[in-house]
Amino acid sequence: MSTVPVPSQSATRDVPTDVVAIDGPAGAGKSTVARALAKALGWAHLDTGAMYRAVTIRLLDLGAVAVVGERVTVDAARVGACIAGLELAIDGDGHVRVEGADVTPRLREPRVDVAVSAVAALAVVRERLRDTQREFARARPTVAEGRDIGTVVFPRAAFKIWLDASVEERARRRRVDHAGGGRDVPLADVVADLARRDALDSGRSLAPLARAADATVVDTTGLSVDEVVTRLWAIVVSRRTEAREGAR
Ligand code: DC
Repeated sequence: MSTVPVPSQSATRDVPTDVVAIDGPAGAGKSTVARALAKALGWAHLDTGAMYRAVTIRLLDLGAVAVVGERVTVDAARVGACIAGLELAIDGDGHVRVEGADVTPRLREPRVDVAVSAVAALAVVRERLRDTQREFARARPTVAEGRDIGTVVFPRAAFKIWLDASVEERARRRRVDHAGGGRDVPLADVVADLARRDALDSGRSLAPLARAADATVVDTTGLSVDEVVTRLWAIVVSRRTEAREGAR
């Protein structure tokens, strides 16, 4: 996985900094950990993957994106028209509304899993969501998770974490998620899907899945959620204490 240096201060002057930016590949535990860390800190949780999924649902419903088997087709003109006026709202509890409708229960539908990487590769979608994500964090301290949070969306975040885990562990966790949604997916299929999504997310030219050069790497293989959250919480609290004492 490549790393990305922090952009210049002048290019990102008005971008919020009171942010814990958590990035990493699918199944590394970002959502569970980010939600629990936000709760522990009393900060809002921003699940940016859920935003990409919500936009994908809207585009599928409108027919601007279609899925046939594993093939995804994109009607660029219709995507552009839809994104221009799109009403999208996310709250700090992970609920996403598109055009007033709560799409949260649909976020993990199989066809959304298939189409979302193609939608997340579109410049018009990324620019729109980046602006909405910055607006969210401008209003409140935020634990934000995704793929480009520490590199593109919040390059001057006070805390940057890169969460990772072995592909076997990530697949096991995703399989448990699927089972929670009533789907029994063979482990080999989950491994193949993770590898496909990681390759698409890392290989795209725009805001690829990449570690910020100044991110702290946390490998969650073999760790419980509580252990990971405690570790991240300690990083945030000790650095904030240091900064406060340094300012005295
Ligand atoms: O974390 P997730 O599986 O819900 O993410 C869904 C998709 O959205 C995934 O293919 C990567 C993409 N994504 C992205 O490109 N940038 C983000 N900041 C968050 C997610």
